[in-house]
Amino acid sequence: MYLGIDIGTSAVKLVCADTNRILATSSAGIDTSSPQPGWSEQHPDIWWQATCDALRLLAGQITLSEVKAIGLSGQMHGAVLLGRDQRPIRPAILWNDSRAAIECDELCIAQPQIGQIAGVLPLPGFTAPKIAWLKQHEPANYAQLAHILLPKDYIGLCLHGELATDTSDAAGTMWLDQASRTWHIGVAEATGMALDWLPQVFDGHSVVGTVTTQAAEATGLKPGVPVVAGGGDAATGAVSLGATEPGRGFISLGTSGQLFVADRRYKPNPERYVHAFAHTLPDRWYQMAAMLNGARPISWIGGQLGLSAAEVVALAETVSGDRVPIFLPYLTGERSPLGDPHIRACFFSLEDSTTRADICRSVVEAIAFCFADAAQSFGDTIDSLPELAAIGGGSQSDLLLGLIATVTGKPIVRSDGADTGPAYGAARLAAYGDGALDRVDLAHQRPTTDRFEPVDMASLSERLMRFRALYAAVRAVK
Ligand code: XUL
Repeated sequence: MYLGIDIGTSAVKLVCADTNRILATSSAGIDTSSPQPGWSEQHPDIWWQATCDALRLLAGQITLSEVKAIGLSGQMHGAVLLGRDQRPIRPAILWNDSRAAIECDELCIAQPQIGQIAGVLPLPGFTAPKIAWLKQHEPANYAQLAHILLPKDYIGLCLHGELATDTSDAAGTMWLDQASRTWHIGVAEATGMALDWLPQVFDGHSVVGTVTTQAAEATGLKPGVPVVAGGGDAATGAVSLGATEPGRGFISLGTSGQLFVADRRYKPNPERYVHAFAHTLPDRWYQMAAMLNGARPISWIGGQLGLSAAEVVALAETVSGDRVPIFLPYLTGERSPLGDPHIRACFFSLEDSTTRADICRSVVEAIAFCFADAAQSFGDTIDSLPELAAIGGGSQSDLLLGLIATVTGKPIVRSDGADTGPAYGAARLAAYGDGALDRVDLAHQRPTTDRFEPVDMASLSERLMRFRALYAAVRAVK
């Protein structure tokens, strides 16, 4: 039995699986703090606490000592800043934090080829500009820096005591030369980064350490169990669906949103903020549009209206038409395809007659419109894909998947367990690292349970045009 641990933004999620099915799942919620506008932080200790809590819940369903290997997955790009004692110097600065905008402009000037090297143009969510920001704004913290890790790798450190990462998480830092899959000295220097602060880079299925006695006592896992490097959540989500093979694509609807296509070559397309990143497996890269707000606006509006995410979607299903407002969902700015860290969300066209249901509908529709923009930014890359699989919490909504199918023109398919994607992918990497699965097994695609075909776009195309025009109009008002 194999354990996948996914350090998500809203929860730590665990999946226990054998070589072809999920046996048990658990999760423990985590909060994000925003001490200043545009900031997004979590203390690494809460990830470890939530991991231990979720493991206790899992222990009610399975015998933890039977876990044969562990794989890690996590939110990408976060800067985990450690001192010489390997303890966090300050809270981690997350993927949806927009404080380091000026540092991105400086990096473009210092490294004009940055888009070709790093596979994407600099944006504040990536790790590298955050270190340049720290140097400028928190010199006392910067002076203590001795190690930098990605979120899942901090949990690796707690479990096995090694400083390590995998290619797909390294890819999201901007310090990785995507083509050669090695750290790039020029980009590191341009952002105030010393190469010896960076961890060693492993393939996702490589064993980087074993569970220590101390970690075993805290978690109930068996000491000595191997831990593989794992992957950033985009890459582990891909592994959960067999999107390790060229030409396989999927969408992810979690706190963030992604449109992802696997490839056997590195194909940068930085102009549209499509990310071209190294995959977690050797000889594979991927292209991804990363949307900062994903399905999160559904739970955000639910929180404001006192509704669950399922109630928001159910209300949204009761209305449609031109009098539904237009919502721009950019609560934390946007990455692909706008590259705009400063834009914020807004409702347009509210009327005296606007209802809660209309507002819910506009929020669900806006998420679909972001995927229309994402699909457009890929150009003809996705034309040949027969369909896109959907994972993440938002994939549970039929309405949302139907809308996305229509606005992207691609059938969307869903399979059982779609909401546990990245953790399941991490468990599969563990099984591969342990020798229970072969590389060809990782290409296995889960059977589809539901399929959503594109339907007549007539009424939506007018609204999509208004959505795009609204962004063009409000981007000057920040
Ligand atoms: C991908 C991205 C998000 C985070 C959080 O580029 O920023 O997917 O990994 O899920």
